[in-house]
Amino acid sequence: MAEALRIGIAGLGTVGASVVRVLSEKASELTRQCGRQLVVTAVSARDRSRNRGVDVAAAKWFDDPVELAKSADIDVFVELIGGDEGPARACVKAALEAGKHVVTANKALLAKHGVSLAEIAEKKGVLLNYEAAVAGGIPIIKTMREAMAGNSVTRVFGILNGTCNYILTRMEAEGLSFEDCLKDAQRLGYAEADPTFDIEGNDTAHKLSILTSLAFGCKISADDIYMEGISNISQADIRAAGELGYRIKLLGVAQQTDSGIEQRVHPTMVPTASVIAQVHGVTNAVAVETDILGELLLSGPGAGGNATASAVIGDIADIAKSRPGFQHGPVFGRPAKELKPYKRAKMRAHEGGYFIRLTVHDRVGVFAAVAKRMADNDISLESIVQHAVGTEENASKTVILVTHETTEAAVRKAVDGITKDGHLTDKPQVIRIERAG
Ligand SMILES: NC(=O)c1ccc[n+]([C@@H]2O[C@H](COP(=O)([O-])OP(=O)(O)OC[C@H]3O[C@@H](n4cnc5c(N)ncnc54)[C@H](OP(=O)(O)O)[C@@H]3O)[C@@H](O)[C@H]2O)c1
Repeated sequence: MAEALRIGIAGLGTVGASVVRVLSEKASELTRQCGRQLVVTAVSARDRSRNRGVDVAAAKWFDDPVELAKSADIDVFVELIGGDEGPARACVKAALEAGKHVVTANKALLAKHGVSLAEIAEKKGVLLNYEAAVAGGIPIIKTMREAMAGNSVTRVFGILNGTCNYILTRMEAEGLSFEDCLKDAQRLGYAEADPTFDIEGNDTAHKLSILTSLAFGCKISADDIYMEGISNISQADIRAAGELGYRIKLLGVAQQTDSGIEQRVHPTMVPTASVIAQVHGVTNAVAVETDILGELLLSGPGAGGNATASAVIGDIADIAKSRPGFQHGPVFGRPAKELKPYKRAKMRAHEGGYFIRLTVHDRVGVFAAVAKRMADNDISLESIVQHAVGTEENASKTVILVTHETTEAAVRKAVDGITKDGHLTDKPQVIRIERAG
């Protein structure tokens, strides 16, 4: 049997401790699958005295993860600290420069420094594996990088944040407000004490930026993502979506267009009958559309110790099975030096259907004025309905419009016009409709 693969793990929190536990519980099965033992020889975390529920006594302890990364005691360095700078970046860089294979679950780090780290890995002839960084346990990286060779991707989209999907699912199922669902998500440990990063779309954007690079062979560009979160989604939107045959999901979407690549994260209406609309709660899903394969959708657990450990261990097992001296495939599917610059398509050029919900004064001529603004901007309507709301003294109406395919620029102009006309009693709501099978 080949020599044991010596693993160094930096970070023994939710994911790190699960990785250690599963490696120990599944040791003989993994040895059979990989043809060699997988042994944790060194670890690092901040607090050496903390009880983590796993036994790391046999592993050498490092206070400094950078020292662990360079240590002669390891063949593979596993980074499970988190963060796009600081110790995580320093130790991943140090490990690659020292010629160690690296496994990481750190989307924030890859979204910011993925390309430069890939350049080092490729120069050194080592692997930089990151399956757990996007959609947790779902093997989407391997699927896109290896199993879909030769396919040209036209669009990739997904539910990439379990917290948002949990909130939207409960809002719809139980008629609760966004705020109440967020509080429950925090109580159950699905949302951080400061949930901004999840609910405003940043976490989805990080993951999307990695998928975009794999899909279109371009450099990662996480700063170039159009982003809207879910905090202004109301029960009125959820109910109207249901009546129209749609469900609201926070999607990350990357799409090749004539003017460049669209990367966008925003609440989206998807047809209730579509497969992605059936993805509920904290579950994640990624759909990839290609010329050869058509549309593929993978769904599964996107976070949590066990699910994330599953992806991390899959990455470690690939390294255990790789042959010494073998030229490894490039980190983002194409050599890092050959990744194209990212060309951003203007959001105003986005084409699609739109849901527009307007709360207007209940007076003669408003409905006609709204319809005229739409027509003036060449927006053709699939449907327009109005409901009475408010009190007798303060009467207002909700007007709900669903457009046929149009442009973002036209919709913004029309809604700005309606706002200037002075007909609105509340902020207009605009939600993009996404085609989904
Ligand atoms: N949790 C998930 O479900 C999930 C899913 C997908 C991806 N990820 C990614 O996985 C990574 C880890 O997440 P997590 O949830 O496991 O985080 P976590 O529970 O906060 O654990 C972080 C670990 O890093 C250690 N650490 C922090 N600073 C350190 C330093 N300077 N030197 C050495 N160790 C240090 C901490 O040590 P102490 O324990 O001593 O404080 C802790 O063990 C992140 O990149 C995250 O985005 C997580």
